[in-house]
Amino acid sequence: MLNQPVHIVSSTNVSTMCADKVQRKPLRLIGAACNNMGIGKNGHLPWDLPTEFKFFLDTTTNVSLPGKLNMMVWGRGCWFSNPDSLFSILPNVLHVVLSTTLSTLPEHAHFLCQDFDSVIGLALLQPLYDLVETIWVVGGPQVYQEALMHPWCELVFLTNVMADFDCDVFFPQFDQSIFKKQQRFPGVPNEIQEENGVTFKFEVFKREICSAEVI
Ligand SMILES: NC(=O)c1ccc[n+]([C@@H]2O[C@H](COP(=O)([O-])OP(=O)(O)OC[C@H]3O[C@@H](n4cnc5c(N)ncnc54)[C@H](OP(=O)(O)O)[C@@H]3O)[C@@H](O)[C@H]2O)c1
Repeated sequence: MLNQPVHIVSSTNVSTMCADKVQRKPLRLIGAACNNMGIGKNGHLPWDLPTEFKFFLDTTTNVSLPGKLNMMVWGRGCWFSNPDSLFSILPNVLHVVLSTTLSTLPEHAHFLCQDFDSVIGLALLQPLYDLVETIWVVGGPQVYQEALMHPWCELVFLTNVMADFDCDVFFPQFDQSIFKKQQRFPGVPNEIQEENGVTFKFEVFKREICSAEVI
């Protein structure tokens, strides 16, 4: 699958798939935000928290069966803020980059989508529909915002970095009466972590008011 020809996808070439009534895929957000909900500065993470980053990698690459894959959905800025070396080492992942301006697929990416609906449409196309377990939206802010609004969005993994950092990008506000903070979540450490003098806690918010509509 990872050696398939590359794809550039727009909503026009996947829209018929979206129109069908199908089973939804788990759509999840993952990120880390500090006290003012800041997530980035000058195109990079504001902090150096290897344990937090490892949790991100372990979570997004985890699949329940050999041969299954997750989609990782990246905004263009977020994609290019990471070193190439990261993408080539991640197992079980199809990288989807979102951009309206790129016309060629970035190295190591598997798909380039021109809008968020195309990501959903892609996940509905065979053979991906059978292969993909979870769609992980990894940021930045615009992609998070669109994912939060999507009816498939069920969980938000948002590490609480309990410190003040100077940031220029922020996690979008979301309704915590709809996405409720879980006291515990399977597989997610519950205790407060500390690294490089910064405390943080892995937190999970679960949608508890269902959207009536299934795309
Ligand atoms: N702390 C965390 O967990 C975390 C997570 C992710 C990112 N970050 C940080 O966030 C910063 C990067 O964020 P960013 O502001 O550059 O945002 P970004 O969302 O990564 O990139 C924005 C670009 O992505 C494309 N895009 C986003 N949504 C799209 C959509 N629905 N359809 C088509 N294209 C779409 C657009 O590219 P075009 O202009 O080409 O159309 C847009 O200009 C970095 O500092 C990074 O470290 C932090």
